[in-house]
Amino acid sequence: MTTRPEPKPYILGIHAYVPGKATASDGRKLVKLSANENPLGTSPAALEALEQARGEAASYPDPDAKALRAAIADLHSLDAERIVCGTGSDELLNLAAQGFAGVGDEVLFSRHSFAVYDIAARRCGAEPVEVDDRDYTADVDAILAAVTPKTRVVFLANPNNPTGTWIAPAEVERLHAGLPADVLLVVDEAYAEYLDPAHQRIGFELAAKRDNVLVTRTFSKIHGLAAERIGWATGAPGLIDVLNRIRGPFNVTVSGQKAALAALGDTGFVEASRDHNSAERARFVEAISALGNHGLSAVPSEANFVLVRFDGDVKAETALTAIAEAGYAVRHLPSQGLPDALRITIGKSEDMERVIATLRELCGETA
Ligand SMILES: Cc1ncc(COP(=O)(O)O)c(C=O)c1O
Repeated sequence: MTTRPEPKPYILGIHAYVPGKATASDGRKLVKLSANENPLGTSPAALEALEQARGEAASYPDPDAKALRAAIADLHSLDAERIVCGTGSDELLNLAAQGFAGVGDEVLFSRHSFAVYDIAARRCGAEPVEVDDRDYTADVDAILAAVTPKTRVVFLANPNNPTGTWIAPAEVERLHAGLPADVLLVVDEAYAEYLDPAHQRIGFELAAKRDNVLVTRTFSKIHGLAAERIGWATGAPGLIDVLNRIRGPFNVTVSGQKAALAALGDTGFVEASRDHNSAERARFVEAISALGNHGLSAVPSEANFVLVRFDGDVKAETALTAIAEAGYAVRHLPSQGLPDALRITIGKSEDMERVIATLRELCGETA
């Protein structure tokens, strides 16, 4: 007999999620380019909604987030009955694994993809199975080849974090078409709004037509509401029903629901955020390419961050320290098999200029 509560062995296999840093090792506060947040902040309309919600702190939120779901459905031409909101899309990713996988099952995802998938699989006792990617991009053939009778859930981040790469709509369709009908495909579209609008709907189209596709989205990125923790998912009624059974009953706060509703209406802010990201990302990638003779390269990104590789004399760790000395936190992910790279969020113009200047200086290229 043991003398204390024994955790499930599969829970002890979890390495807790490590969030992007905001301070240097000496405690100095850094500008965060480490968590893929929106450098333009939050839509003024959403901020006003947050302010108004302060008066309602004593009341529970609408457990079904009806107004928010209706507005999401309206904006994206979806069916509100096929939408569920979550405490960030993190909650929904975890619930998707929990609802459809368990001990003895397998959950597939690409190498170098979102760290939460491994946690979501282990939380419910399933085995996380990492599939090799190609050029930091999900490899549809490799994923399909890794499917076994034990596979219950496949996670695809599109665009992907931490690499920024994406697969085109036809590839998402090919992935879905190759999966057995009883395997759930979760298309995690946390960064979809940064894609060319012509490429943003493939997940929605599959989720509307197929019984085994769940698409997740978030208000944390382009809408600048990461602090409020609001995500949503769309899929077949049977999938949404499962998530509704196991989610927290009041999982999206009053302020979160109101702010998200206001943010949806502020399409100008979303467009400005996308335009800022495209322009600054292009400028940053060009600057990194110019340092190619020092071994620096940028993995092609469709998201609000860029994975920069360091394959020459300047090491990723040295760059991490120099960038921190300049006042910025960026992401080094050796634990995700990326010891020679840094993931750098696209920030404000002046911040990107300083990061570029720091890298140039490290390479001995001071103008
Ligand atoms: C690919 C991906 N999915 C989901 C999330 C979770 O976002 P949230 O829980 O804030 O909605 C993130 C956050 O960084 C992400 O990078």
